[in-house]
Amino acid sequence: MLRLGSVSKTFSGFAALTDVDLAVEPGEIRAIIGANGAGKSTLLNVVSGLLRPSAGTVSYDGHDVTARDPSELVLLGLSRSFQITSVFNDFTAFQNVRIALLAYHRRTRQLFGSVERLLRAETLELLEAVGIADRAGRQAGELAAGDRKRLEFAMTLAARPKMLLLDEPTAGMAPNEREIVVALLASLNRDKRVTILFTEHDLDMVNSLAHRISVLHQGRVLAEGHPDEIRRNEQVRAAYVGAA
Ligand SMILES: Nc1ncnc2c1ncn2[C@@H]1O[C@H](COP(=O)(O)OP(=O)(O)O)[C@@H](O)[C@H]1O
Ligand SMILES: [Mg+2]
Repeated sequence: MLRLGSVSKTFSGFAALTDVDLAVEPGEIRAIIGANGAGKSTLLNVVSGLLRPSAGTVSYDGHDVTARDPSELVLLGLSRSFQITSVFNDFTAFQNVRIALLAYHRRTRQLFGSVERLLRAETLELLEAVGIADRAGRQAGELAAGDRKRLEFAMTLAARPKMLLLDEPTAGMAPNEREIVVALLASLNRDKRVTILFTEHDLDMVNSLAHRISVLHQGRVLAEGHPDEIRRNEQVRAAYVGAA
């Protein structure tokens, strides 16, 4: 689904990523973990087209997408969550999702037939998928933080992503909100076959969610494997202790 070949990124001489090879299978949930400054966000920025790699290639779903525009990638089904969505606080949850759907259909020129009815059904389906259909009429600005997160997910899903990119999706959240996001990501992956690549600095959070983990250390891939392999990896432990 996604392949990085020898990707490097330097910022005026400083190597944030060095020779990163990464392959994510369709249907996989992959976590990128590493201490602060390891290069996780830079890696996501390169994949989502926000940054051009200094060297190397990125391919997605059979396309060479190296340094492709984020908006083009969304049309190919590669979406970065939380950065492309903007929730309108004065509108209801329903209206917000409907706006996201309209934007998507307009871009792909799929607006035809009984648009109103189609959008209503699709909007409700998305609200249902994230578990807030019963709050459809509530103003977005008045939703609890966890429900707002769900709304943002519904809006991201309006673009029918095949693959989601998330940079520390639960950063700054209370434990119960984190659980909501983790459960939501797991169900999107299971029920809608959405491939997921996410970053996280907390090793514990990824264990329940990720199928495979890649560990970044000072811009290089230090290790890759199943969560229990990574947990037992002495090099990984040393890198985390060293960073702490
Ligand atoms: N735009 C930039 N200009 C200069 N240095 C940067 C820039 N973005 C990131 N870096 C540096 O690259 C390294 C990796 O950063 P980042 O990818 O944000 O790490 P992480 O997300 O793992 O915490 C850090 O040392 C950071 O200071
Ligand atoms: Mg980061």
